[in-house]
Amino acid sequence: MPHSTALDPLFTAVNTAAFTDRHLANLAAGTLAAVRVPDFLDKPTCRAAMEALHRLPTAEYDLARVPTPIVRFGPALNDYRGQRGQLDAARYWRDAETARAAWHRAGMRPDPIAVSLARLGGAWGAAVTPATIGGRAVFGGTLREINAGALIHYDDINREVPGLFDQEIVAQLAFNVWISVPAEGGATAIWRHRWEPTDERYRHAYGYRPETVADHQQVNLTPELGDALLFNPANFHAVEPCPHGRRIAFAFFLGLTTTGQLITWS
Ligand SMILES: [Fe+2]
Repeated sequence: MPHSTALDPLFTAVNTAAFTDRHLANLAAGTLAAVRVPDFLDKPTCRAAMEALHRLPTAEYDLARVPTPIVRFGPALNDYRGQRGQLDAARYWRDAETARAAWHRAGMRPDPIAVSLARLGGAWGAAVTPATIGGRAVFGGTLREINAGALIHYDDINREVPGLFDQEIVAQLAFNVWISVPAEGGATAIWRHRWEPTDERYRHAYGYRPETVADHQQVNLTPELGDALLFNPANFHAVEPCPHGRRIAFAFFLGLTTTGQLITWS
């Protein structure tokens, strides 16, 4: 935490029964740290999703190190950037179509992604639609198991792949809903700090060293089963490792466009 006692009173994590347009606006504006909706998905829905996992193709596990498969379903645009930051389109669309087909084949009911998007659209007052590239809808709704934590980083599609979508985005939000949580650990930390060029001196692997956020206000959220969380990922954030148990979430981004629409991608 900061050595200074001056805190931003608006940078808090709100617990609420439902997302509202005001929450979305305040997250987009960058004043609010996060909004959490407990029991966004009920227990039977989480259970049904976990039971359907084996019908999804998953990847990246090493039986020598990890006793259970790590769930990693669906392509994230971030992982398809070439040397100069451009999208590796051929590889991306191939994997996106494969994931879409696998998702429909798995037949998860209720469909947690559809439920989430419908509720967010209800809050905003207009349906959430996929971001498009050359008129083609990108993949939204990855499933990620993050047990080993994630480094301090930020997400900003306008910096990662400028001008990628047909739509212009003025703010980006990150959505997560947990269908499995560990008994301890696995908290999400969000700092009141956005990337500045001077942060580059702290680069480390795909993320940044703790010095980047050392003097910045922080909120921590430990996920509970069925929780949904929205935050502005332009703020640096990280995931604490969990030694036991599985931390599994559906994840996608929302973008607020210049025409006031919410679009989604992963
Ligand atoms: Fe992130």
